[in-house]
Amino acid sequence: MEDSLTVTDNRTGRTYEIPVADGAIRAPDLRQIKVDDDDFGLLSYDPAFLNTASCRSSITEIDGDRGILRYRGYPIEQLAEHGSYLETAHLLLFGELPTEAELEVWTHEITYHTFVHENVKQLMQGFRYDAHPMGMLISVVAALSTFYPEASRVDDADVRMLQVHRLIAKVPTIAAWSYRHSRGLPYVYPDNDLGFTANFLSMMFKMAEPRFEAHPALVRALEVLFILHADHEQNCSANAMRSIGSSKVDPYSALAGAAAALYGPLHGGANEAVLKMLAEIGNLKNIPAFVEKVKAGEGRLMGFGHRIYKNYDPRAKIIKQVADEVFEVTGRNAMLDIALELEKIALEDEYFVSRKLYPNVDFYSGIIYQALGLPVAMFPVMFAIPRTAGWLAQWLELVQDPEQKIARPRQLYVGSDVRDYVPAGKRRAVAATV
Ligand code: ACO
Repeated sequence: MEDSLTVTDNRTGRTYEIPVADGAIRAPDLRQIKVDDDDFGLLSYDPAFLNTASCRSSITEIDGDRGILRYRGYPIEQLAEHGSYLETAHLLLFGELPTEAELEVWTHEITYHTFVHENVKQLMQGFRYDAHPMGMLISVVAALSTFYPEASRVDDADVRMLQVHRLIAKVPTIAAWSYRHSRGLPYVYPDNDLGFTANFLSMMFKMAEPRFEAHPALVRALEVLFILHADHEQNCSANAMRSIGSSKVDPYSALAGAAAALYGPLHGGANEAVLKMLAEIGNLKNIPAFVEKVKAGEGRLMGFGHRIYKNYDPRAKIIKQVADEVFEVTGRNAMLDIALELEKIALEDEYFVSRKLYPNVDFYSGIIYQALGLPVAMFPVMFAIPRTAGWLAQWLELVQDPEQKIARPRQLYVGSDVRDYVPAGKRRAVAATV
């Protein structure tokens, strides 16, 4: 069998052989298909990239039909059960799990960079008292490029690596401080005797005690959540990271753009919507009526369904277990009972079964964050901390890929044909719409 596609252009009757590799054709191969010599050549039109691969990647593999998520070949279930976040970040960034010696060096590098310049603190203090922590995180990450101007040398491997260390280490500090700021609390400096996650919790919640000691079960739960959220291949924010990074801008500017993409409710905000929905249901007895409303097309069951996972979201299974462990420490939350019952009813209902709608990672993550004492505004920030490793892994792959150039899609122009300039006084008024 030939690895090619035979295409007949019915406009001209001509036939073309287009090579197929890795289950894809190359869109530029379509350009040879022309009606005449003046024709630009055939384009493929794919708003929202529904069927366009923008890169070759060896970082994360998702098989939505089989419910598979693997980082560099390792099943997410095994990483969540046995791994740590820093090990996972090393795996995503460098392709392999670290040896004991490598992990020691890697942990040291990250720990060494957790502090930020005092001017960063002053910058953060300039935000309004009620600034949204995600807006602060995005802005302050972008501002880091002014502290490390050498970061613009993205073709230098050593320079790149230094920024990777800095970003993974400093994002949790900035994230925690943005929360402290929104609460009017003093910023807590990193405690470098603590692990990555325990230190983050200390920067979030420490008050007058000499050392904040988070419950080990909660530290582990957060570690698992960080592992589950570390990467998810070419999603909206990873695509933003790559698109911005393709201009060869420094990684702080690119990562701020990726975080901005994550801020949107269609990406990092679904767990907040789940909490709102559970609060609206309010009581177990209201669940059947709520489900009927959803089935009648009045709203969606938030935290259910996924564009890619049409069997189940493997992260949802793990997160449900984490929820049980967290609630053993924090005490049971009424929201959890509603969520469990809602899930049970939906999974037995023909409407959800026939549409392959299963709980996704966000069905339980918001309830867990709430149990950990985090306000809803911090949810996208909690996503951005671990995803920093994924964004950077995607960026490193991009800048080292000889096939990549500046990302610059084509368009199908559907606007006015050529027309002559008219002086302002002679123009006809038209309602301005955007
Ligand atoms: N509740 C009720 N019905 C749903 C839901 C839902 N959550 N999701 C999809 N459906 C229905 C649709 O109405 C449609 O029904 P129809 O065929 O009768 O018209 C069918 O299932 C297919 O839905 P699509 O919108 O085509 O599915 P798509 O893959 O485009 O959407 C999405 C995926 C956006 C995640 C969707 O399932 C949804 O809105 N879920 C709720 C929001 C949510 O939880 N988002 C988080 C995603 S995970 C993440 O981003 C980390």
